[in-house]
Amino acid sequence: MEKVYGLIGFPVEHSLSPLMHNDAFVRLGIPARYHLFSVEPEQVGAAIAGVRALGIAGVNVTIPHKPAVIPFLDEVDEQARRIGAVNTIVNDNGRLVGYNTDGPGYVKALEEEMDVSLDDRRILVIGAGGGARGIYFSLLSTAAERIDIANRTVEKAERLVREGDARRSAYFSLAEAEKRLAEYDIIINTTSVGMHPHVEAQPLSLERLRPGGIVSDIIYNPMETKWLNEAKARGARVQNGVGMLVYQGALAFEKWTGQWPDVNRMKQLVIEALRR
Ligand code: ATR
Repeated sequence: MEKVYGLIGFPVEHSLSPLMHNDAFVRLGIPARYHLFSVEPEQVGAAIAGVRALGIAGVNVTIPHKPAVIPFLDEVDEQARRIGAVNTIVNDNGRLVGYNTDGPGYVKALEEEMDVSLDDRRILVIGAGGGARGIYFSLLSTAAERIDIANRTVEKAERLVREGDARRSAYFSLAEAEKRLAEYDIIINTTSVGMHPHVEAQPLSLERLRPGGIVSDIIYNPMETKWLNEAKARGARVQNGVGMLVYQGALAFEKWTGQWPDVNRMKQLVIEALRR
């Protein structure tokens, strides 16, 4: 029987996940289909009960439900618990197990797309919200030398560092981080600053950027933010948010099926859809 997978979120209409997963199911000959489920916030518990009752094989979870689904699951992976958000649920013969593939997907995309080892690197994370949490905790699992956090609200960066690893991380205001920019090998924007429709905005001045470093943005709409364009003009290697989108999906797909999909194919489909 065809297995059912899907995405629960609110809203979900514009998600590119069905495109990636359904193509991978077909190409790998897996009888399964990925659907979109628009779930209002007060229906999250009922939706998870529905996953159980209907025997849905697995779901992704997106904004705003990533923290909200946790109490309804049978088990939550340690890293997802630490992040405080689940984006992937596996239905293991009736046991619902929650994972977070956003942060790990980001890190894998960074390593593979930029062909870089994070060992001994000095990394600056801009932002301290939901996006930053997954990325920060996943970076802490690498052998990076420093993972510092800069945020508009400094207290939020401080809190994140205290939950993470204060020996490997410092926290700064955005202004302070701008002054220290030349210390970093990799600079990552996890905020929504520069996203459509506010495409002129930039999260941080790149005036002191050291040429030859990596500048990475989790935004994929627009695919190349003004900030990334400026980083490129200043001699950085740049990465946009398509990689994170694709790799979080690929890691979820692997958890569901045990198979690693063709990420380049997924990426190509996503880029074509974003261009349309
Ligand atoms: P997400 O889950 O997408 O990360 P979030 O939890 O609201 O969303 O976090 C948004 C991040 O973008 C935060 O780090 C936020 O900074 P604050 O903690 O100071 O709010 C940052 N952010 C959003 N708009 C910003 C702006 N105009 N300038 C600077 N930082 C901004």
